[in-house]
Amino acid sequence: MKINDRLKKIGDLVDTNSLCLDIGCDHALLDIYLVKIRKFPKAIGSDIKEGPLECAKENLRKYQVKDKVELRLGDGLEPYTDDIDTALVSGMGGRTIIGIFKNNFKITKKLNQIIVSPNNYQMDVREFFTKNGFYLEDEELVKDGKYIYQIMKFKKGKKHYTKKDMFFGPILLTKKNKLFKDYYKRELTSRKIMIDLLPKNFYLKRIKTKKEIRLIEKELS
Ligand SMILES: C[S@@+](CC[C@H](N)C(=O)[O-])C[C@H]1O[C@@H](n2cnc3c(N)ncnc32)[C@H](O)[C@@H]1O
Repeated sequence: MKINDRLKKIGDLVDTNSLCLDIGCDHALLDIYLVKIRKFPKAIGSDIKEGPLECAKENLRKYQVKDKVELRLGDGLEPYTDDIDTALVSGMGGRTIIGIFKNNFKITKKLNQIIVSPNNYQMDVREFFTKNGFYLEDEELVKDGKYIYQIMKFKKGKKHYTKKDMFFGPILLTKKNKLFKDYYKRELTSRKIMIDLLPKNFYLKRIKTKKEIRLIEKELS
């Protein structure tokens, strides 16, 4: 089947035979990958809009997995049922992802495994989950097209982290591979451009950005 490297990496990180709720499944390719390639018995894809679920339905037909992937309409964790142990969310902003889990905290606490790939505010996402009963079991960077995406796998439990861990990702820091360097070189460049463009009265933002620039430069040196 055709699946991009970002979704494939997310699918590969899921513990074998978990029952996943893929929130914002859109085309449902991740769910199809789980049942067709990873041979999970079942997966559940949900979306807040009917349009994407129609596209998902078409893909289930195309890949002949109608009996293994269930589609549900609903906002965030609304379509959750007690048999689900894992939530997947990708292709959304970090603050939207946090909102989904914050809005339904009781359900969040019931999950064993949460795998997310936020498009931005990655540090906020790490802080949210690690302050609310989860630890980072794995993290990956994946290049897809011209972008590099962060993927975070949280499990129920507690671990201590530093501010630096939250900024870079504790596991990404230990792996520190070529993608890590490429990713943070880009982050450095974008912060340097931002500093030049910041209006003079954005005093606090300037201090914060300068601090981050020093942190990244130190880590890349
Ligand atoms: C950019 S697509 C990402 C699709 C797929 N997860 C991926 O990573 O390729 C975002 C999808 O999330 C859905 N979505 C946005 N907010 C949502 C929410 N609160 N609950 C469920 N689905 C949501 C949108 O309708 C859209 O289909």
